[in-house]
Amino acid sequence: MAFTTLNVFYGTIVHSISIDQLEIASNSLLVVDNDKGVIVSFEREVNDVEKFLEKLDRSYKLFRLTPEQFLFPGLVDTHAHAPQYLFAGSGMDLQLLDWLNTYVFRAESSFKSSQVAKDAYTKVVSRFLRNGTTTCSWFATIHLEACKILVDTIQQLGQRAYVGKVNMDQNSPDFYIEASAQASLDDTRAFIEYTLEKQDQQKLITPVVTPRFAITCSSELMQGLGKLAQEYKLPIQTHLCENQNEIEFTCSLFPKSKNYTSIYADHGLLGDKSYMAHCVYMTDEEIDMLAEYNTGISHCANSNFSLHSGVCDVRRFLNKGVKVGLGTDVAGGFAPSMLDAIRSSFFASKCTLMAHRDRKEKYEHLGTSELVYLATLGGARVLGLQETIGNFAVGKAFDALVVDLNSENGSSVDLMGHETPLQKVEKFLFNGNDQSLAHVFVQGRRVAGSASSLE
Ligand code: GUN
Ligand code: FE
Repeated sequence: MAFTTLNVFYGTIVHSISIDQLEIASNSLLVVDNDKGVIVSFEREVNDVEKFLEKLDRSYKLFRLTPEQFLFPGLVDTHAHAPQYLFAGSGMDLQLLDWLNTYVFRAESSFKSSQVAKDAYTKVVSRFLRNGTTTCSWFATIHLEACKILVDTIQQLGQRAYVGKVNMDQNSPDFYIEASAQASLDDTRAFIEYTLEKQDQQKLITPVVTPRFAITCSSELMQGLGKLAQEYKLPIQTHLCENQNEIEFTCSLFPKSKNYTSIYADHGLLGDKSYMAHCVYMTDEEIDMLAEYNTGISHCANSNFSLHSGVCDVRRFLNKGVKVGLGTDVAGGFAPSMLDAIRSSFFASKCTLMAHRDRKEKYEHLGTSELVYLATLGGARVLGLQETIGNFAVGKAFDALVVDLNSENGSSVDLMGHETPLQKVEKFLFNGNDQSLAHVFVQGRRVAGSASSLE
């Protein structure tokens, strides 16, 4: 029994069963197979722990959670730009297209240097892990070498990730554009091959086909990317209907398509593995299209406020059965934290609620159960990972946070002491930060956390 093969957590376990069902299980046991990083057992309301442990036929280590601690699923960020992290929180004066031209393209072009990429990517991935983002869907830049560095960095640091080499072959500055549609497709294929070769058994990292948005991609390029995604059975991510000027310009570039959403459909980019960031300004017809294609959306509320793009009413998408997850959209969104994405989504839904004040129909803002779902299981569904992560179902990977609200351990949360378990979860969502995350696990491996170690 020298080698510990199981980790057993005993205490309060919080996760989403569905969008309207948040389970808070007290006195419960979660058993994790350390070799595979997979959940092998979830026992609710266990009063005699010793008796349960006696039944285990393998060596184990028991972690008793305190009343201020609970297990929470790892957070899933469905949309973030890794190369934009270092200027997050600066240059917040402009709207989307001016912001891209003034700040973003110049900053991203510096990732031509492998050293710039190494330094920046180590910082951003470490920061996201510390903030509890166990899975992230990343946009990188157009540079093949820097994209490979992002993959290597993520692999070293242990995050689960989708990584996209960005495609841009038109309407981009001379210093930040690919030579041709074919050159862009060739580099994308090389990136996909590199990433697939690097995949280990657990497949923590997946390449994602990433046309930046229709403005910077020719028809030939988008068509080719759709075919590449099909050939390798890969997901596709891009931006859609974020800003009114953007929509107008986009539609003027592709007059044969009926609307912005149709541009992607007409180029073979919509499908059940695709997900679209923002979707602030969508007609009912366009939302119906997403539902028909089973294409998901990434709701990036901080970014939609910060670039004053608008307020996305995600209730419209949820009501039509469209898959919805949350995204930080760093650096359109200034915060590299999914707790912030939860709070921003809460504000956005309160804005929509206030806009409904004088209307007849009833409107419900996003509640606690919905917010947790969108940041975990909902995001997992958007990424097609609902069988692997998102909650603590037996058989799923142990991607998890040990939340510790005890301020003596450094948490940013102070408790009255008589909170209900649900109130503790809400305090974490609204007042917690990286200091409230004692341990962060991906596939059973501890990859970050404010506590010094797992002991
Ligand atoms: N649309 C095209 N590129 C970008 C980007 O980098 N950020 C955001 N928010 N929107 C985009
Ligand atoms: Fe974005």
